[in-house]
Amino acid sequence: AAKPENQAPNVPDWSKTLGDGVAVRAYGKPSKYEAHVVRRDVEWLTASRESSVSFTPLHEIEGPITPNSLCFERHHGGIAEIDPADHQLMIHGLVDKPLIYTLADLKRMPRVNRVYFAECAANSGMEWRGAQLNGCQYTHGMIHSLMYTGVPLKVLLEQAGLKNNAKWLLLEGADASGMTRSLPLAKALDDVLIAYKMNGEALRPENGYPMRAVIPGWEANMWVKWIRRIKVGDEPWHHREETSKYTDLLENGTARRFTYIMDAKSVITNPSPQAPLTHRKGFTVLSGIAWSGRGKVARVDISLDGGRNWRAARLDGPVWNKAVTRFYYEFDWDGSELLLQSRAQDDTGYVQPTKVALRKVRGVNSIYHNNGIQTWQVRPNGEVENVEVG
Ligand code: MTE
Ligand code: CO
Repeated sequence: AAKPENQAPNVPDWSKTLGDGVAVRAYGKPSKYEAHVVRRDVEWLTASRESSVSFTPLHEIEGPITPNSLCFERHHGGIAEIDPADHQLMIHGLVDKPLIYTLADLKRMPRVNRVYFAECAANSGMEWRGAQLNGCQYTHGMIHSLMYTGVPLKVLLEQAGLKNNAKWLLLEGADASGMTRSLPLAKALDDVLIAYKMNGEALRPENGYPMRAVIPGWEANMWVKWIRRIKVGDEPWHHREETSKYTDLLENGTARRFTYIMDAKSVITNPSPQAPLTHRKGFTVLSGIAWSGRGKVARVDISLDGGRNWRAARLDGPVWNKAVTRFYYEFDWDGSELLLQSRAQDDTGYVQPTKVALRKVRGVNSIYHNNGIQTWQVRPNGEVENVEVG
């Protein structure tokens, strides 16, 4: 609670005594007054905590980059705690020369730094049938956007030498989940990385330490963590995560498969249900994020009235390819009810659809790839709720 004796014009306690010396917090951590800013999970969502998800607190962060400690986590067999001395990445199959790389080997190879978003295909998955979870952390928090340092997979494949009939890769993780995904070779040669750093520091164990696949713009399920094996083949393997899971069951009973690319999407992070407006009326800043798996965010539009009128938001900071872009919209709030929406458009011209339009094409059986426009209702008292408009 606030202490008047510490507030201006008084001299606060911390001006009167010396604080901690250097290196007391040898690997830094946030202020104890920020203890509410954490990843959170939804207990009823999954049967176990080992195969589960925690969500990024999107309403508590700013800019285009996610702090490492707050990145959503999704694992199907718990966190593998791997000693890099015991970890290797094997490349075999349709290659001239099977190879094995240690982390030290990767660090002796040419590396690049790139910012990309990773969004789980199941992000917003609980919202297919109607507004459900009350907070952008839960509706949209299965996304993070990080600067990766890693080696282009192309470099490793060239060292192994691809056979003429090579067309697909199988990526396998070292954790207990048996995570395996088929990846088209063309994508691997384009922009896939084997990364070992995030935002400059070593990958965190929960995000794949010591190495993970980075598959820019594509569903995060394919970003195999703790990657230990890449097999080169001539056709996809049709494993669990690309058959029974990560396919979209349509209204007519058939399923969309291999829906890799995450289409353009956006969400207003402030205000939102966990971050109400507390100032009643007056100058108000809307903050939000937009992204597209097809390229750069070209523009974001904002509606204050549930999609009837639209005005351009201001993109702020770097607009990277296949990364999160921050946007703002400033306005004078008259204190009346608002139906806030954001709508992203990418540089291919693709425009984020309404939920109504999306359901017309995709039905409501799906869990995955819900990129419909989100609506937040702001009440005159500043409280915010997850709603839908017709
Ligand atoms: N890789 C392995 N080895 N095991 C996993 O359970 N989960 C996948 C993917 N890679 C997973 C994995 C899923 S579904 C997602 S959404 C992303 O990792 C999550 O990455 P993150 O935990 O860094 O957010
Ligand atoms: Co996922």
